Amino acid sequence: MDARQLKIAAAQAALDHVEDGMRLGIGTGSTADEFVRLLAEKVADGFAIQGVPTSERTARLCVELGVPLFSLDDLPELDLTIDGADEVDGALGLIKGGGGALLREKIVAAASARMIVIADESKLVDTLGRFPLPIEVAPFGLTATRLAVERLAARLGLTGDIVQRPDKDGPYLTDGGHFILDASFGRIPDAEALAIGLAAIPGVVEHGLFLNMADAAIIASQSGARTLTAKT
Ligand code: A5P
Repeated sequence: MDARQLKIAAAQAALDHVEDGMRLGIGTGSTADEFVRLLAEKVADGFAIQGVPTSERTARLCVELGVPLFSLDDLPELDLTIDGADEVDGALGLIKGGGGALLREKIVAAASARMIVIADESKLVDTLGRFPLPIEVAPFGLTATRLAVERLAARLGLTGDIVQRPDKDGPYLTDGGHFILDASFGRIPDAEALAIGLAAIPGVVEHGLFLNMADAAIIASQSGARTLTAKT
């Protein structure tokens, strides 16, 4: 199986958890896109779900393929969210936000009774941090916010570049109109402390550490898709 087939395998296995009539959070990224494509086939066959997208990108794909969409204000309590991740550790801690959708992804996941992550095995790590941690920040006071993040990192013994994410013609802007700082820490031994510290910085809108949020992760490898739960 190539990389795309692994994503499809994880997405296919996740579909087994989706029941007729569910209110469903729909994630962002290339793996979540595969899930949307498979979900759309079921919807075309008469399967009823009410979807809440985690990004404008996912919303566009859902509309194109006929997946029924609602806003989170229409459906503030969801049964299940299916989403990808940039990293997954053994306790189902995640790094997310490589696609820039971390704020909406976290809001939607927090509004869901359950969250299932879909990924290929390249996303599995012993310790979070190999993937640069996305930190969504307000444009106002960017330099002060970056300085505060750097000081926090130094206090926690974390080193590595913290760079503002670029786009084609300037800084990358999230769906919410914020900037992203990508922090290449390499290894984050105490993700909990970092998450608490980042949340306490006023200019930080949200960060890509999703701790104690995922209930299961479906990991696809050449030998098939296996499910990790928070207790395994
Ligand atoms: C989007 O902001 C991210 O959190 C994605 O869920 C994550 O980057 C996974 O994307 P891929 O499935 O494309 O690797």
